[in-house]
Amino acid sequence: MVVVIKKMLLMYYLKYSGVLGYFFKKALYNRYKYYFHPQKTETLFTPMNRKTIAYIACSIDGFIAKPGDDLSFLDKMQVEGEDYGYKAFTDRVDTVILGNNTYQWVMKQVNEFPHANKETFVITRQEQPSQGRVHFYTGDLQKLILNLKSKPGGNVFIDGGGRTISELLKLRCLDEIHLFLVPILLGEGTRLFQGNYPEQALELFETRSFSSGMVSVKYRVVKAQVESH
Ligand SMILES: NC(=O)c1ccc[n+]([C@@H]2O[C@H](COP(=O)([O-])OP(=O)(O)OC[C@H]3O[C@@H](n4cnc5c(N)ncnc54)[C@H](OP(=O)(O)O)[C@@H]3O)[C@@H](O)[C@H]2O)c1
Repeated sequence: MVVVIKKMLLMYYLKYSGVLGYFFKKALYNRYKYYFHPQKTETLFTPMNRKTIAYIACSIDGFIAKPGDDLSFLDKMQVEGEDYGYKAFTDRVDTVILGNNTYQWVMKQVNEFPHANKETFVITRQEQPSQGRVHFYTGDLQKLILNLKSKPGGNVFIDGGGRTISELLKLRCLDEIHLFLVPILLGEGTRLFQGNYPEQALELFETRSFSSGMVSVKYRVVKAQVESH
């Protein structure tokens, strides 16, 4: 009995103290640090490597809609046989997040929500019952992203609009920005980037130009690593 207890104490000592213990604790801390210190952790805990990706078109001067939710400036970009990589992008997506203004705009254009086969969260302050897989989310946006990232799944399509994308930037919850620049200056409307978020470096990983004059630029948001103790 004494021998067994001695062995257990030795195992405990080796595991939780000394060099082995240091690495064990560090690995444990790194894995769960978001839950210990969410306010200090600048990167989200992403064991499943699901990415939150804003995929959106805007004018050269940074507007996603003209006043009155007018998106007619996108009409000229519709070219037969060109989907700007949209299908390939959405094939890797199983969850959609969009702000209520964008959802309302979409529902005015169509009878059925186009992403009805994907889990969808409409960000709003107004409680409403879910409609199929479309959920009206009134909770904490960061918790929603954390929850999605803690589960296996595909990428998360951040459909817009500007307010929602800016809120996610404020929370450092955006992993990639796929921007489709429309060759037009609108002068006024809804801004894509509405400010009030911390500085975040971007890493360019793809550019493409299209016969319509559209240019796509894809960026990764560089996540600042916070030193663990
Ligand atoms: N060019 C493009 O590719 C493109 C893509 C998407 C959208 N758009 C356009 O962009 C416009 C909409 O953009 P937007 O910036 O006005 O709005 P948005 O981001 O679509 O929606 C804003 C709404 O989302 C809710 N919301 C956002 N953040 C929240 C938070 N942290 N907590 C609680 N609720 C939150 C609020 O809804 P409640 O008021 O219900 O509380 C808020 O009024 C539309 O005209 C749309 O057609 C263009």
